[in-house]
Amino acid sequence: VFSAESFADHEQVVFVSDPDSGLRAIIAIHDTSLGPALGGCRMYPYPSEEDALRDVLRLSRGMTYKAAAAGLDLGGGKAVIIGDPRRQKTPALLQAMGRAVDRMAGRYITAEDVGTTVADFAEVHKTTRHVVGLPVELGGTGDPSPTTALGVFLGLEAAARHRWNGRTLSGRTVAVQGLGNVGWHLCRYLAEAGARLVVADVDEDRTARAAAAFSAEVVRPQAIYAVEADIFAPCAMGAVLNDETLPQLRCAIIGGAANNQLACDAHGERLRERGILYAPDFVINAGGMIRVALERDGFAQALLDDRLKGLAATLSAIFERAERDGKPTQATAIDLAQERLRAARARQAPS
Ligand code: NAI
Repeated sequence: VFSAESFADHEQVVFVSDPDSGLRAIIAIHDTSLGPALGGCRMYPYPSEEDALRDVLRLSRGMTYKAAAAGLDLGGGKAVIIGDPRRQKTPALLQAMGRAVDRMAGRYITAEDVGTTVADFAEVHKTTRHVVGLPVELGGTGDPSPTTALGVFLGLEAAARHRWNGRTLSGRTVAVQGLGNVGWHLCRYLAEAGARLVVADVDEDRTARAAAAFSAEVVRPQAIYAVEADIFAPCAMGAVLNDETLPQLRCAIIGGAANNQLACDAHGERLRERGILYAPDFVINAGGMIRVALERDGFAQALLDDRLKGLAATLSAIFERAERDGKPTQATAIDLAQERLRAARARQAPS
């Protein structure tokens, strides 16, 4: 499992075991130059500890870039619990996870993620206060997904302005993949803005509801890539921009909520060569993180609105700079995040 290479850029990696509750988890703190590390706690039946380690290292690094690009004074971290959320998630296990988070003394702040829910964190909160995204009755701001969707919508507006000389989304066709917590709300914003929707989901109830609610055209899950649309919005799973799907795409802009949409960096370059404007995923999908981060300083709607406008402005700046430099937008977004991290480290360095 251990190779110096694999966590060379991480500040701290902690392996947690609590035999009484059956908890086995890893907490990874990637970088705290900008502030305490914030990132969700995923629960997944990883086939091996090595798989879990690889995932938590990759995800925590991504959180550093996400917070830095969003202009938040937060670092990047992530936790993974090794286990099946349907069978092994108990109050005792969640409380043991809370104790492990608490031992990090605020250097890591946890939240819900794949395989965990806002309600689970009410349990985690019993043993640590270093939790965000709590239910409203516990002083949190509840489900962050609608805010993620609003951030994606504002980001797509910025992309449309860039690509089509100041034009809006009205009359544009948007292909939305995935009608879950984020995808559904994104469809609502897009329909309100006068866009035409083509949707796909493996859950047929959801597509039927979208057809009724937004007059959306429904296509089979595999057909969404080849839809002739102005915009493709991936809101289901990662690595959807790959060797198989890229040749099928017939859109001008890609932007959606899914994490790690590019199967590898080379696909970012191929999108650029084809003239497809790609909104880097970790920038456009940061709305939920921006919202939960505000729980720490006291939530205020006006501040949230300002920061979401900032998300769209950051994307516009990335599009312009990437075009000027002839670089993929994803690479430009990473440059921007790294510049902010370097500046923070320089301020902290002893003179
Ligand atoms: P979700 O689980 O509520 O929704 C995902 C939807 O995608 C479901 O309706 C599912 O049936 C559908 N789906 C699964 N496989 C599919 C396929 N092959 N083709 C079409 N549809 C498929 O998840 P949620 O919360 O809406 O998040 C969507 C994505 O955005 C995830 O990748 C998540 O990691 C990411 N994300 C979510 C944030 C949030 O605030 N919820 C924040 C940042 C990223």
